[in-house]
Parts: sequence; C-alpha cells; structure tokens
Amino acid sequence: MKGILLAGGHGTRLHPATVAVSKQLLPVYDKPMVYYPLSTLMLAGIRDVLVISTPEALPSFRHLLGDGSQWGIALSYRQQDEPRGLADAFRIGADFLDGSPVMMILGDNVLYGSGLSNQLQRAATVTDGARIFAYPVRDPRRYGVVEVDADGRAVGIEEKPAAPRSNLAVAGLYAYGPDVVDVAADLKPSARGELEITDVNRHYLEVGTLEVEVMGRGVAWLDAGTHESLLDASAFVHSVQARQGLMIACPEEIAYRQGFIDRADLAALGERLAPNAYRDYVLALAASS
Ligand code: TTP
Repeated sequence: MKGILLAGGHGTRLHPATVAVSKQLLPVYDKPMVYYPLSTLMLAGIRDVLVISTPEALPSFRHLLGDGSQWGIALSYRQQDEPRGLADAFRIGADFLDGSPVMMILGDNVLYGSGLSNQLQRAATVTDGARIFAYPVRDPRRYGVVEVDADGRAVGIEEKPAAPRSNLAVAGLYAYGPDVVDVAADLKPSARGELEITDVNRHYLEVGTLEVEVMGRGVAWLDAGTHESLLDASAFVHSVQARQGLMIACPEEIAYRQGFIDRADLAALGERLAPNAYRDYVLALAASS
C-alpha cells in the first residue's frame, strides 16, 4: 500500500498565522505539524508516500523532509494548484498510485494512542473497497458523520449535517483499493465547489464496501486547523511527552522501531541533528539496549 499526505489548503481559519507559511509546517509543540501524519503512515508500515501541497509551500516540505531515505522511506512531491477538495488527491496522485491501494491522511491530523498501530496496520492490508476511521466527538456537525449499525457496518454518511444521526466523526485518515482513482475521476464538485471525500465514501457505502474502524477512547484524534485546536494539540503533546519521556511522532524513532533503518543509521541521524533535546532523545534511543 502507498500513502498520500495531503498538506495543501489555504488554512484561512489560521490567518494571519498561515498567510506566509503552510499550516502543516507550523509547530505542534516541538515538531512541524506534518511530522504527525507522516508518522501515522509510517506506523501503518507505509514506506512510499506522496506529499501534496501548494506550489508556494512544496519547496519548504522538500527542504524539511527530503526524499525520505534518511528514514528508510521514499517521499515524492506533487503540487495542488488550488484547494479543489480532499478527493482531488486521487486525481493528482493517480500516476503515483499506479494501481496500488492507498492510505490517505490529512496534513493537519494528529493521532495518538493505545491500539492505534494495530488498527493502522490492519487498514494497510486493505486491497479493495474502503476503510475509514471514525471517532466520537461532542459536536459532530463540523465533520463528515458516519452512522453504523449494531454490527459496526456503515449505514449512512453525511457531510457537516445540521442534525447528525450519530456522534461518530470521520477522521482524516482513509484506506482505499486502487479503484478510488476511478471513483475520484467521476466526481462532480459539490455545492461548495469541492471534490468531496464524503462523496467518495458514499460511493463505497452504496456498493456495500465501506468499512468503519471506530477508534476507542484510548486514542486521541486532534485536528490542528484552528488556533484553539492547535494550542490544544501542542499542550497535549507537551504533557504526554513530559510525563512519559517518550516522543509522539518522532520519525527517526518510528523508522527505527519499524525496522526501516538500523541502530547505526539512527545514531548517524542523531549526530546530524542540532544540539537540543530532540537530538538527545534520538541518541539515547540509539544507545539503549
Ligand atoms: P481544511 O482544514 O478543510 O482546509 P484548510 O487547511 O485550507 O483550512 P481552512 O478551512 O482554515 O481554510 O483541510 C483539511 C486538510 O486538507 C488540511 O491539511 C489541508 C488539506 N487540503 C488540501 O491539501 N487540499 C484541499 O483541496 C483541501 C480542501 C484541503
């Protein structure tokens, strides 16, 4: 399975903070936001990832992440000229995918918690149909909302409903078989002029192949698209890291634990980092037994 990390958009809710810099390059506590979704794909075991962003921001993403080889993965880059919607990613990424199933994650989604790696790895085995991730939220009206029956099967999906039929918001993480490229190619823009991921998911619901993975209460799902949620995400990462002494979304660590790089690679990566707590963490991990 290949990965798509969608990191474009206008980020208007964060203006003026995001006038001159992409939202997904802003820090969530101690790391650029994009580290978090990239780490999620790496935890799923995905090593071939397309990063999509705006023409202005793409050089900064390349500068930050490179070709991925330092973390034992392959990163490619493609631009989205205009934010035409989330499903546009499958049009832009069609030749990158080249018939492969895909896991897509939004660049402002932070996921962390118990049992998540297993759920991710299961989703990474999807070869056809769709698997989406749902999460209980207090106010589902801002999200895509999925309704599931007693057996956990999807029975309805709506975008930003005024009267939600469940409290399960659809998180910005989706796995699809290779035909998602055809589904996206046939989409028409919605009333707000976007190619909607909810319309993609509705297609799979209608053909009976939409599976829903409900994330439990041991998982934190935060989207960092508003000033308040960005601050909350930073505070969350800070408090968990300070308490546990373990980092959330350190790509060097995940690459090592996933076996994408070996201990000597990890040590060499650590040596190249600027002298600070992040470097100390990577070097201590390389020295541990
Ligand atoms: P949104 O948060 O819906 O949009 P945005 O980031 O432009 O922010 P705002 O609403 O404040 O203007 O997007 C969710 C994620 O998807 C985010 O990481 C940006 C990304 N995105 C794209 O890369 N391309 C797109 O066409 C859209 C709509 C979003």
